[in-house]
Amino acid sequence: MDNIRILDKEFKLFITEEQIQETVREMALRMNQELKGKKVFLIGILNGCFMFVSDLVRNLDFDCTITFLKLASYQGTSSTGKVKRLIGLNEDIKDQTVVILEDIVDTGTTLDFIQKQLKGYEPAEIKVATLLYKPEACRQDVPLDYVGMEIPDDFVVGYGLDYNGFGRNLRQIYTVIE
Ligand code: IMP
Repeated sequence: MDNIRILDKEFKLFITEEQIQETVREMALRMNQELKGKKVFLIGILNGCFMFVSDLVRNLDFDCTITFLKLASYQGTSSTGKVKRLIGLNEDIKDQTVVILEDIVDTGTTLDFIQKQLKGYEPAEIKVATLLYKPEACRQDVPLDYVGMEIPDDFVVGYGLDYNGFGRNLRQIYTVIE
């Protein structure tokens, strides 16, 4: 199905399941080459990252630990620019290579906030992997180490990403029709 409706909005197919899987495999390949031999601690940012993390880690062949943090900075289709909620980190990440796993970097506010928080735990280094990146929307200077796809500044749903809570279960990524 190429066009779908979620609540009051129409969306059209944007990234197919095959394209997503290929992109995730390529990201994992690079991470396997660059992170092997390090003490790696993966931190997925919920809720949107759950499908990405699930597919990514099955393609990783180095030893790593995996945990999740929860933050929310979004209502509807435009970012509020405010991080509202954080469910904290209980594990010790001191002297480890932390890799933040994001579904999407939009304004970069969330990532900037998380990076600042995590620096306080004294990890050896912090890297970032994001499936999607909206360069036109990003207002923060946040270095991204692994980017799956750069996309235009349009609202997308599917593969973990939601519109007001719906659409996360879609296997493909859809973009809003204005
Ligand atoms: P940022 O702080 O503006 O970079 O936004 C980060 C969070 O906003 C992401 O982790 C998503 O949860 C959400 N978000 C940003 N863009 C989209 C989108 O196009 N669709 C769905 N959620 C989005």
